[in-house]
Amino acid sequence: MGFGNIGVSINSALNKPTESPFITAAILKCAAIEERLSHVSPDSWEACRLKTSVAATMVALGVKLDASELLLRHGLAMAMPSAVSELFAAKLGGLAGINTAKVSISETEPSCAIGYIKKRGDLFIESEPIPRAIPVWFLPQSVRTPLTTNPLDSSFPDMLNAIDERLRVWLHSQLDKPSPMSRSQYSDFPAVAESDPIVLRAAMWNSPARLVIHAFRAMLYCSYAHSSNVLVNERGAAYSIDHEKLVFIDGTDDIAELFDAVRHSSKVLAACRQISQLTRGDIERSLSGIDWRIWKHEPAVFNSPGPAIDYFSTRLAAWKRYFPVEAIDLVA
Ligand SMILES: Nc1ncnc2c1ncn2[C@@H]1O[C@H](COP(=O)(O)OP(=O)(O)O)[C@@H](O)[C@H]1O
Ligand SMILES: [Mg+2]
Repeated sequence: MGFGNIGVSINSALNKPTESPFITAAILKCAAIEERLSHVSPDSWEACRLKTSVAATMVALGVKLDASELLLRHGLAMAMPSAVSELFAAKLGGLAGINTAKVSISETEPSCAIGYIKKRGDLFIESEPIPRAIPVWFLPQSVRTPLTTNPLDSSFPDMLNAIDERLRVWLHSQLDKPSPMSRSQYSDFPAVAESDPIVLRAAMWNSPARLVIHAFRAMLYCSYAHSSNVLVNERGAAYSIDHEKLVFIDGTDDIAELFDAVRHSSKVLAACRQISQLTRGDIERSLSGIDWRIWKHEPAVFNSPGPAIDYFSTRLAAWKRYFPVEAIDLVA
């Protein structure tokens, strides 16, 4: 398939409804709740309260999912053209200490491509292969999916159990997206590394490295990091790819809501705070030097750097208010 000798062309549908950015918040909330449950005795009042809040969180998510599908039918607005978004996130991710793939854009079909190529309109987005790495989809399911144990139990009312079960299955299915590539595409990732505990720990849906990736994508309001959008290399480093969909969101209420849901989780807070090391200057740098033709390539809320810099800087400023770098103690 594809372009040149080694390049791989990616056939993908844009605007898949299930890639809604708010799923990232759901994943971070689940990570926060799981962490708290692990610290309390199973029979305690606190455990009971937390388990009920799992169900409540899931119900809220279900309602939001329906609403987002409605929104999609009416057309979700992207903040910037897809090629700009890929370039921006790859650079900004690097500045936040997140591993990403190198991305380049061309107006003509790359003749000797070595990477993964998406065609968007008449532009080609090429993502450089990550050496000796594999999408986490190819690792065991226990690594890929959250909430492997049912947090509720038979002592809970049937309704809560049923809601929890249904929505956990839904969240599993969201996080667990089959890879569009075959395993043989990643032949430089040794089979033996698939059972290496260091690799498996890094690939866990709630590992520290994956939480930072989720946090980064939440700050950007990006499509989420499911099992085909995260790779792990043989040494246990996690990589975030596919940032073309930065959905426009009016205001920063989503960040306030996220904070409220994860404020008691030291693991999730630590991940979120890592993103707060970014500055407005980093955003400016990451959006500079992009050809105006790429900016104008497709209609988006922002088709030039100035307003896009303001928009993402406003999101970053809100993020920093809720997740300040210097905070060490848990917020009460
Ligand atoms: N830099 C890369 N390194 C390794 N695999 C990649 C890379 N970029 C893309 N892929 C593979 O191609 C698939 C699709 O690419 P992606 O950018 O996620 O596009 P989409 O999900 O929109 O189709 C990924 O799930 C992954 O398997
Ligand atoms: Mg993808």
